[in-house]
Amino acid sequence: MFVKLRRMRKCYRLQLLTTCLVVSLVMVCWQELDGNMVSHIKSYSSYLINPFAYINQSLTIPREQARRFSNFSFLLDHRGKCTGQDVLLLLFIKTSPENSERRKAIRSTWGNETYIQSALGATVKVVFALGLPRTRAEEPTWSKRSGHGLQEQLVLEDRLHGDLIQQDFLDSFHNLTLKLIMQFRWMHSRCAHARFLMTADDDIFIHMPNLVRYLREASSSGVSDFWVGRVHSWAPPIRDKESKYYVSHDMYEWSWYPDYTAGAGYVVSGDVADRIYQATLTLNASIYIDDVFMGICANAIGVAPREHVFFAGERKAPYHLCIYRQMMTSHGHVDDIYELWRAATHPRVERGVGGLMDRLYCTAVKISLLCRPYFTYPCKAAFS
Ligand SMILES: *[C@@H]1O[C@H](CO)[C@@H](O)[C@H](O)[C@H]1NC(C)=O
Ligand SMILES: *[C@@H]1O[C@H](CO)[C@@H](O)[C@H](O)[C@H]1NC(C)=O
Ligand SMILES: *[C@@H]1O[C@H](CO)[C@@H](O)[C@H](O)[C@H]1NC(C)=O
Ligand SMILES: *[C@@H]1O[C@H](CO)[C@@H](O)[C@H](O)[C@H]1NC(C)=O
Ligand SMILES: *[C@@H]1O[C@H](CO)[C@@H](O)[C@H](O)[C@H]1NC(C)=O
Repeated sequence: MFVKLRRMRKCYRLQLLTTCLVVSLVMVCWQELDGNMVSHIKSYSSYLINPFAYINQSLTIPREQARRFSNFSFLLDHRGKCTGQDVLLLLFIKTSPENSERRKAIRSTWGNETYIQSALGATVKVVFALGLPRTRAEEPTWSKRSGHGLQEQLVLEDRLHGDLIQQDFLDSFHNLTLKLIMQFRWMHSRCAHARFLMTADDDIFIHMPNLVRYLREASSSGVSDFWVGRVHSWAPPIRDKESKYYVSHDMYEWSWYPDYTAGAGYVVSGDVADRIYQATLTLNASIYIDDVFMGICANAIGVAPREHVFFAGERKAPYHLCIYRQMMTSHGHVDDIYELWRAATHPRVERGVGGLMDRLYCTAVKISLLCRPYFTYPCKAAFS
């Protein structure tokens, strides 16, 4: 009897140990698992219910308290930027004060408003959204009017190009949500009639001719409830304190984020932009991951993102003619922007489009380029 009991205990302990081992193994593997596969499984169930209704409720705060996220004053502003023009797209590029080379490259390639107007016949307003340089934000007040610091350079840059929008919060990774709110506020008060708003990183490449064509088609029959980009479904908050994207339980207590689009670049229609702006007036914007906060706002107004296979999340698109024909955005470009712009808009890209041989050739090429793990665009993009 005694022996039996002891053996049982031993057995039990062994069982417990194995269970623990298996559970921890699963947990470790879970994190290592290809996020893509997991999100696919999850996204199938995502449309069955909206379990996010309560997020809206518990993040809603009084307007007076929400104001502290948006009530920064504009240091650089362009009130008349859109006045009297039929603006197809208001394009915000999130940039940092020191990234003047990136801004220069964008202005002389895909973000050249003059070129877009003359070659594509579309009015696109390209503006750069930024906060204060660290040096400036940390200076004592008495010295703020002196010196030749970064802020003075920004003022000069803006005088030359007239395209910087700046508020007086510190430009930092953890203030990206403030920058997001600034963009919607600026559109609301300065460019509310633009048909679309896009927000993008400053290391993105946008195939402007393709994007303009796509947006024109979308708006030709009147557009509303429109939000496209690379969709993240059922993404869990990262609880690893070492991560750049760490989010505490206090900040966000639930296990999943509402669907959102990768911050690298996404587009919303004017009506969505205005409702997002309204939502920002009553939501707690402490969560500093801007694209997640966008998802929370959109969830609050009942708008869901749509996937477009040629919007990039991370990583660069493959360099190929067949890709250039369809690409919207590609991420992680700094030094190769000029070259890529020349190649992607070269007349030969359009040559032969529509022929059967050409279509077969491009499908084969795209399959070989895209149908492998961890690529910019999903495999299904090869067949579209
Ligand atoms: C917003 O900021 C302005 C100055 O920047 C200030 O005059 C105003 O009182 C602020 N409003 C609120 C409600 O905090
Ligand atoms: C923008 O495009 C116009 C017209 O194509 C061109 O004249 C101008 O030099 C370009 N601007 C820059 C900064 O490259
Ligand atoms: C965000 O900006 C505010 C205003 O400049 C500043 O006080 C705060 O330290 C910034 N937060 C972070 C995390 O950089
Ligand atoms: C907003 O959320 C933060 C946690 O991220 C919390 O500390 C703060 O109290 C909340 N603000 C309001 C007004 O509830
Ligand atoms: C979100 O909350 C606000 C305020 O509580 C409410 O007006 C709005 O209808 C809610 N939206 C959804 C989709 O539940």
